[in-house]
Amino acid sequence: MEKIIEEYQRKFARFLGAERAFAFWKGRVALYALLRALDVGAGDEIILPGYTCVMNVNPIKYAGARPVYVDIEPDTFNMNVNLLEEKITNKTKIIIAQHTYGYPCEMDRIMKIAQSGGIPVIEDCCLALGSKYKGRMVGTFGRAGYFSSQWNKPYTTGLGGMVITSDRQLAERIESLAANEMCPPSGREVFMLRMQLMIYRLFIYPRTTALAQSLFRYLTKKGAVVGSSSTSEFEPVKADDFFKAMSAVQARSGIRQFGKIEANIAHRRKIAQLYDELLTAKGFKSSKDGRDWAEPVLVRYPVRITEKDKALKQAAKAGIELGSWFECPLHPIETPLASYDYKLGICPEAEKASREVVNLPLHLRVNENIAVKTVEFITGFTQI
Ligand SMILES: Cc1ncc(COP(=O)(O)O)c(C=O)c1O
Repeated sequence: MEKIIEEYQRKFARFLGAERAFAFWKGRVALYALLRALDVGAGDEIILPGYTCVMNVNPIKYAGARPVYVDIEPDTFNMNVNLLEEKITNKTKIIIAQHTYGYPCEMDRIMKIAQSGGIPVIEDCCLALGSKYKGRMVGTFGRAGYFSSQWNKPYTTGLGGMVITSDRQLAERIESLAANEMCPPSGREVFMLRMQLMIYRLFIYPRTTALAQSLFRYLTKKGAVVGSSSTSEFEPVKADDFFKAMSAVQARSGIRQFGKIEANIAHRRKIAQLYDELLTAKGFKSSKDGRDWAEPVLVRYPVRITEKDKALKQAAKAGIELGSWFECPLHPIETPLASYDYKLGICPEAEKASREVVNLPLHLRVNENIAVKTVEFITGFTQI
């Protein structure tokens, strides 16, 4: 393994307070490595919230297991822990605690339920780098945690994923799987990713995001860029080169941004607080997490409104950066839900949130001016 990747892994593990970190091409690949290392196979059931990205469900299907969805609670969009126990069967192999938007899950309760059934918990921290629960970083409560540094995530290496764990046996399993089965990204993929990262650094600002996203989706379909997801990933069939390693380009970019991670977190907190203040001044309910044990670092700031579709269309025209996820219980809207064992109606709160929630940006290119304009725009709609 290249030294730069080892260095990135070391820095990542140290920041989170874990013994080891393992880097992958994407977050979904990190989850796949974890499921395989935990011996997930045919007939197993994996519990996760029914408010996620379909790319997070693919690895479960690739491993031969069945996803079992738990509805969410409406304030934090995290798994409703009151509904967890009834989903556990003698086939439950793993519980995935997803810290949605950056709000920490109720880890004590989840761990207690899981431990009483002898079921390992893994934490999906893809949206929650730096969030804390009772003063401790999320990702360090379960057997392992996994992270993403894709375009929309707390910081971006274009694409990227990481597993952290302090479980030595699990770490050895991941290492041996990676050594025996993981393939390197192709030269073309790495070249294109490097170009895309350059373009991102130079041209992508809140004003240009909607246009850039449409162009990016179009070019991905044409195979002209390395997209986050290819069209083949909307069916649960694993591509031969899915289990892919991180490239040195991603690791270099990751190290650069990890050097500024404290400033990134402080910025997210500051803009989230500004949104809280501006929204409440306009009669909106803020999305502040009022629970005293939660110290979230939000990746995006969720707001429930009527007329979500209209808001998204108008925002794109007005140069306001508004996020649409999650568009359905297994984002995005194109997902064939039945192929992923999701029947409409099984997670009503998640379905409601998908219809109502838009999210406001918190990344480093959002300044106070942009935050004010974004709030002016969104408060032109009615909050639910
Ligand atoms: C909650 C969540 N977990 C995992 C992933 C997968 O991350 P990646 O895109 O890096 O594969 C996503 C999707 O982007 C996500 O939203």
